[in-house]
Amino acid sequence: MKTLLSAGAAALATTSLVHPAAAEDITVGLLLPYSGVYAALGQDIEAGFRLGLEQFGGETDATFEIVAEDTEVKPPVGLAKARKLVLQDKVDVIAGIVSSGVLGAVSDFVDSAKVPLIVANAGNDEATGANCSPYIVRMSFSNGQVNRPMGKWMREQGINTVFTMAPDYAAGQQMIAGFVEGFQSAGGEIVGQEFTPFQKTQDFGPYLAKAKASGADAVYVFYAGGEAISFVKQYDSFGLKSGLPLYGAGFLTSPLYVEAEGPAAEGVIAALHYVPTIDNEANAAFVATFEAKTGRTPSEYAAHGYDAAHALVLATAAGATDRESIAAALPKVSFSGPRGATAIDPATNNIVQPIYVYETVAGTDGLTQKVLAELPAEADPANGCDLAAASN
Ligand code: PHB
Repeated sequence: MKTLLSAGAAALATTSLVHPAAAEDITVGLLLPYSGVYAALGQDIEAGFRLGLEQFGGETDATFEIVAEDTEVKPPVGLAKARKLVLQDKVDVIAGIVSSGVLGAVSDFVDSAKVPLIVANAGNDEATGANCSPYIVRMSFSNGQVNRPMGKWMREQGINTVFTMAPDYAAGQQMIAGFVEGFQSAGGEIVGQEFTPFQKTQDFGPYLAKAKASGADAVYVFYAGGEAISFVKQYDSFGLKSGLPLYGAGFLTSPLYVEAEGPAAEGVIAALHYVPTIDNEANAAFVATFEAKTGRTPSEYAAHGYDAAHALVLATAAGATDRESIAAALPKVSFSGPRGATAIDPATNNIVQPIYVYETVAGTDGLTQKVLAELPAEADPANGCDLAAASN
């Protein structure tokens, strides 16, 4: 295969397609944040995606050209960029989207434009639930999927009462709702909740004071990117960590920015669908090639990009050449990847996967992820979505 890749994020909006596409030329619109609190996440997804095309591209005759667009972390910007990729660049498929808010703004558009979207991060439950589409396939996780089993697991560890915190937007609300559902149905009690202004909160002090005053056994949060770094550091410097243990959705201490958090991250226990310490052959190969290429450990974001590229390669290897055939082929792909056996739930087009509980610990080479438990894969509730029946 030939891989025709544009110069990357730096080229962004200025990348143009010089040659008309041949039948097997697949134009991919990468829709990612390259600025704002999730900029590093976008870059890691792109690095994983490019590595995936390189690694698996030999399995298809198709060639791939990338047009990248910056969504920032703003739903209207994401929608405008999706429209540009579809209407102006005439992409065959879109991959990416980090924020659940951006996914919420884009999903109706890709559905009505009939353009396949491989979600490479955003966990918005609705995109593979109440608002699902045969054009949307998720290779990352859904917000409920990551957090619901952690509620049950924490209860099993003897934690009775929890105070929750998250940014006030779709992902924060859904991640906490998933956790609360799991925790309460196992008999736990939520003694306080705070939703902090998204992308605007610099000082978590007033919220942390409320958490402390609540008398909870533990705090459970979702924060990611720049907000995760500030939160984890402030939690530690507030002196809370020893008396009020910190738990969360595992993006909190992602390998992408755990070194920036430093010792403040040590001892945090979190739930996630991918950690670089997962012990299987495909993951060992992924970690080794990613490290050789970038000099850093791959994060869950890099894994989403890598798996999204793998899925796209396999869809084209199965004969898909255009929007319609790529959309039909994507949900049928299955492979053995860094997360183990990887497949899509035919009812919702969401990935089905186990969830790992891990603790951030000091290793010989910096901070690392110690797996404490593997919670079995569960398909999300379909919430009215029935893609399998719709395609019959
Ligand atoms: C989301 O908005 O869905 C989101 C963003 C960053 C994460 C995880 C989920 O790390």
